[in-house]
Amino acid sequence: MKVLGIETSCDETGIAIYDGNSNQIIAEKLFSQAAKHSDYGGVVPELASRDHVRKLIPLLSDTINESGIKADALDGIAYTAGPGLRGPLLTGAALAQALSLGWGIPCVGIHHMEAHLLINLLEDPAPSFPFLTLLISGGHCLIIRANNFGEYEVLGQSRDDAVGEAFDKVAKLLDLGYPGGPKIEELATKGDPNAFNLPRPMTKEPHLDFSFSGLKTAVLYTVRNEENPSQTFKADLAASFQEAVADTLFLKSKKAMEQNGLDQLVIGGGVASNKYIRKRLIEGLKGNKIFFPPINRCTDNGAMVAITGHYRLNKTNISSDIIIRPKWNLSEL
Ligand code: KG4
Ligand code: ZN
Repeated sequence: MKVLGIETSCDETGIAIYDGNSNQIIAEKLFSQAAKHSDYGGVVPELASRDHVRKLIPLLSDTINESGIKADALDGIAYTAGPGLRGPLLTGAALAQALSLGWGIPCVGIHHMEAHLLINLLEDPAPSFPFLTLLISGGHCLIIRANNFGEYEVLGQSRDDAVGEAFDKVAKLLDLGYPGGPKIEELATKGDPNAFNLPRPMTKEPHLDFSFSGLKTAVLYTVRNEENPSQTFKADLAASFQEAVADTLFLKSKKAMEQNGLDQLVIGGGVASNKYIRKRLIEGLKGNKIFFPPINRCTDNGAMVAITGHYRLNKTNISSDIIIRPKWNLSEL
């Protein structure tokens, strides 16, 4: 079975084709709008929608050309139905529904976070159910117990800011631009992670929820107290913030693995592309099996939608009444 995946939930237009026989992505194209939104310090939904409309068809035709197959060899279409921005979601949904009608093949709306989770099944070795998942993106920070395809228990989540959102806001405080994650990671390589003693919120409590707004506020006060922030000050603060996030994610993941008696942790979402956080989690959780997608598949992409579409079209009943769902809890799947 060959499935076309379409991702447009935020500011990346992603198209890919997954081949179930070889368990491989046979072609994929991605366009990131990040530069377009950087002047505004965040994603502008209307601009994002317009850009998806401009990019979808050219990327689709490039992906099909690269795959070497004809469009009539496709067996199904998957698109991100939510959670995400309403306008951008609609652009992908409209294209998917139109292609489905035109080509006479089924179409399925995918949950974005399930896609971030299942992309790891492309890796060798791949995780096997049941496993734990730490999803760290711009909109979410979740610890999930994945019991099987479509069977997910949310064990913990952020009560305020998502972890990527905290990176973006701290980058703004330091005048680094958008998206903040990669900019903080780069600046942090020049700083001392122990220069500032920042909080590790909720790590002493037995539950698995997160809170990142206090950490962000601690950074805000540190910036306010510095009259002329030097490059060294900014680098030290970026490194200390990144260290506080890494430490918090490590402590919560360790607790989740112990509480659940599971030794496999799958990590996904845009923040999982941070090499410092990857290293800290791998070192801290030594003795367990830790899975990360390749860096280019941590942030939003079409491949994760295509593989999830394959499993959804094969293994579960398709619910065709969901066109888009901007707010959608993973445990409702
Ligand atoms: O998964 P994603 O592409 O989109 C959402 O579903 O939200 O994640 C985007 C988020 C942004 O907040 C971005 O700043 C963050 O991931 N991010 C990073 C890094 N690369 C992207 N955060 C920390 N370090 C990075 N290298
Ligand atoms: Zn995402």
